[in-house]
Amino acid sequence: MKNVVIIGAQWGDEGKGKIVDLLSEKADIVVRFQGGHNAGHTLVVKENEFKLSLLPSGIIRDTTVSVIGNGVIIDPIHLIKEIAEIENKGIKITSEKLIISENCFLILPIHKFIDQLREKKQSSLKSKIGTTGRGIGPAYEDKIARRGIRIDDLKNKDIFFDKMKKNYEHHNIWISHSKIDIVDFENDAKNILKTFDVLKPFLKNSWNELNKYVEKKKNILFEGAQGTFLDIDFGTYPYVTSSNTVAGNASIGSGIGPSKIDYTIGITKAYTTRVGNGPFPTELDNEIGEKLAFKGKEFGTVTGRKRRCGWFDAVLIKQAVKISGISGLALTKLDVLDDFDEIKLCVAYEIDGIEISYLPVNELDQNRIKPIYFTLKGWKSKTLGTKEFSKLPSEAKIFIQKIKEFVECNIDIVSTGPERHDTIYLKEIFD
Ligand code: GDP
Ligand code: IMO
Ligand code: MG
Repeated sequence: MKNVVIIGAQWGDEGKGKIVDLLSEKADIVVRFQGGHNAGHTLVVKENEFKLSLLPSGIIRDTTVSVIGNGVIIDPIHLIKEIAEIENKGIKITSEKLIISENCFLILPIHKFIDQLREKKQSSLKSKIGTTGRGIGPAYEDKIARRGIRIDDLKNKDIFFDKMKKNYEHHNIWISHSKIDIVDFENDAKNILKTFDVLKPFLKNSWNELNKYVEKKKNILFEGAQGTFLDIDFGTYPYVTSSNTVAGNASIGSGIGPSKIDYTIGITKAYTTRVGNGPFPTELDNEIGEKLAFKGKEFGTVTGRKRRCGWFDAVLIKQAVKISGISGLALTKLDVLDDFDEIKLCVAYEIDGIEISYLPVNELDQNRIKPIYFTLKGWKSKTLGTKEFSKLPSEAKIFIQKIKEFVECNIDIVSTGPERHDTIYLKEIFD
């Protein structure tokens, strides 16, 4: 395999950062292709913990090139802070190591303002999407509406100021109708322009650079953000993010054609979590859910919010496998289940007494799903840190085997802890 896509198969936070970090040992390039700093990817390397939002998870390795692809939206003020934070941890970020696509659209301060305002205006807590409040939705809206501003626009101050003025005028129409003070563009434009000195050396024609790497037969790892059921097309709409999170977008968000992609890995936890609102068929609003949250330290990397928890949902994963053409799965956080008497797998759904084997499109139906469970005996012993499949307790082996059968996909990696070496490899991913 040369070019491998990694995506989340659930609602995000599946452990993509850990797996990308592991596999980047053999990757020459790591590319982010969608989303923005709504992502929070955690890497644990010995005593160091790195939390990355915009920087690709290859950034902490000396010899890996990290690319922020054209499909990513960038809050430049956040990005320079993230670069400084990582540099403060002793990682040097040079223009040989980091490439930022000139095509990337910017998240402007007004996008963040609108995102947070909309959430505040929702009549009830439940009707909120529960966004990360980072301006993701409004920024992607402007891109599609063709009034977005690209990072490349910062090269010309007059053009940039003119675009900022027009963009803010557009949004200020409804802001003033909402009887809220309009937002002045000039100060925001000046602040963004200040970031350009730092970001300029990293800007490149990234699709061209990436295709050169393809020609040289380098190993490329595509790092997805969010997860399949937060996808704007395939997720639990409207409780989703505003980009395509599935594997198909790796091509569009980077400029490397689909024929050049060799393998897709879907990441899934051994149970399910979700942060923010929206349907969640296997959610456990009880002490078992609390125990999963406690054992799994399920608090959001970006917003610190508590993640909702539930049993593994094979219906969702099987759907994710099909939609992204997942070649193999990485099953993470197996160790979190070390202390449960019994463990359940959702193998089908029931709505009004009728069994279905996929997630229905309608939100009302999604909320009426009754999960049908297959129950297994818990292993009640420590898998944390296990590195060999043969050393797993027999009940854990059965659990993994059953997942494989129900989702109809191979498992390539089992993760048994947050650190790099807490890993069981069942397949060699790169040649
Ligand atoms: P991402 O957004 O998909 O990269 O995932 P996050 O970093 O937001 O959340 C995953 C969390 O689980 C992080 O704190 C990881 O350090 C941690 N983690 C990853 N794999 C494992 C595992 O196998 N076991 C345990 N206990 N923690 C893990
Ligand atoms: P990583 O890459 C988990 C969720 C938010 C909210 C919805 C929309 O770390 O897996 P947005 O700010 O994107 O408009 O919010 O999507 N969300 C995530 N949930 N992990 C993420 O990223 C997420 N990024 C966005 O909580 O429900
Ligand atoms: Mg995360």
